Amino acid sequence: TLPSHVTLVDVGPRDGLQNEKQPVATEHKARLVSMLQDAGLKEIEVTSFVSPKWVPQMADNEAVMAAIERRAGIRYAVLTPNMKGLEAALPTQPDEIVVFAAASEAFSQKNINCSIAESIERFAPVVAAAHAAGIKVRGALSCAVGCPYQGDVSPDEVERVVQLMKEIGVDHMGVADTIGVGTPRRIQAAMERALKHYPLHEVSGHFHDTYGQALSNIYACLELGIHRFDASVAGLGGCPYAKGATGNVATEDIVFMLNGLGIETGIDIDKLVDAGAFISNELGRQPVSRVGRALLAK
Ligand code: HMG
Ligand code: MG
Repeated sequence: TLPSHVTLVDVGPRDGLQNEKQPVATEHKARLVSMLQDAGLKEIEVTSFVSPKWVPQMADNEAVMAAIERRAGIRYAVLTPNMKGLEAALPTQPDEIVVFAAASEAFSQKNINCSIAESIERFAPVVAAAHAAGIKVRGALSCAVGCPYQGDVSPDEVERVVQLMKEIGVDHMGVADTIGVGTPRRIQAAMERALKHYPLHEVSGHFHDTYGQALSNIYACLELGIHRFDASVAGLGGCPYAKGATGNVATEDIVFMLNGLGIETGIDIDKLVDAGAFISNELGRQPVSRVGRALLAK
C-alpha cells in the first residue's frame, strides 16, 4: 500500500530561482514564500548561502530570510556548502540547513569546486555547528543516477556517499536526480541504498523533470513507502552546473497526482497554482507545470 500522507518541500525559491539570469527582486522572492505557505506548504527551501560569484541570484540570501513572513509550524531551509555559509546563515535562524554532495566526482568539482572526500571534510564541522545550534541537517546527494559530465552513476557510488554523509551526522538523505535521466527501477535502486542507512521518514526524493520522468519516479518511490519529495512550484529552475537541466518536478503536478491517489498533502492546489502564476508572471513566462497551465486555462 502507498503512504497515506506525503510531505512536499517547495524548493522553488532556491532551486527554482538560483538559475535565473534576470534579477528577481527580494520582495518577489518573499512574496513567493508567502503564497506557498498560504497554499499549505509546511516546508520551504528559501535560499542558499553560497558564493555570490558562483550564484549571483542567491546573493540576497540574508535579505530574503529577513523579508519572509515567518509562520509557526512552517520549516524554512537554506543551503550551506561550508562554514562560511553556515556562519552567515545562523543569524537568519533557518530551521534546517542543507549540505550538498554529489555521487559523481566530476559534478562535485564543477558544483562546489572540490572532490567528494573534500566536501565531506568541509561538511563535518558544518553539521557539528548546526547540531550545536539545534538545527537539523539535510544532505542532498546530486547525480544519484546520472552525471552531466560522467554519465551513468551506479547504486554503489550512491551508497558510498550516503555512508560518508551518515558518518558525519547528516540527519536526512535527499536523493537527487539532478539531470532527470532516472527511470522508475533505477530510481528505486538508488533509493534502496539510501534506505539501507536511513529510516524511511529520513529519505526523500529530489527530481528534475528534464526527461519527463519525474512523476513516474515519484510513484516508484511511493511504492517503496517514501513519503517526502522536493518540488518546485510552476516547475521553476535548473542547476547552474548541470547544463540543459530543467526545473524540479512541478509541485502542482505532484499534488494533482497525489489528490487522484487519495494521498493527503495538506496543499490547496488552486492557491498553489496562483503562487506559480505569480512567480511565472514576474519572470515573464508561462508556468512549466502542465497542471498549472491546465487549471489556469479553465
Ligand atoms: P571556492 O571558490 O572553492 O571557495 O568555492 P573558497 O573557500 O576558495 O572561497 C572563494 C571565495 O568565495 C572567497 O571570496 C570566499 O570568501 C567566498 P574572495 O576572497 O574570493 O572574495 N565564499 C563564500 N561567499 C559566500 N558564501 C559562502 C562562501 N564560501 C566561500 N558560503 C563554494 C566553494 C562551495 C563556495 C562555491 O563553489 C559555491 O558557492 N558554489 C555554488 C554551488 C551552488 O550553489 N550550486 C547550486 C546549488 S546545489 C543544487 O542545485 C543541487 C540540488 O538541487 C540537488 C540536485 O538537484 O542535484 C541541491
Ligand atoms: Mg536540484
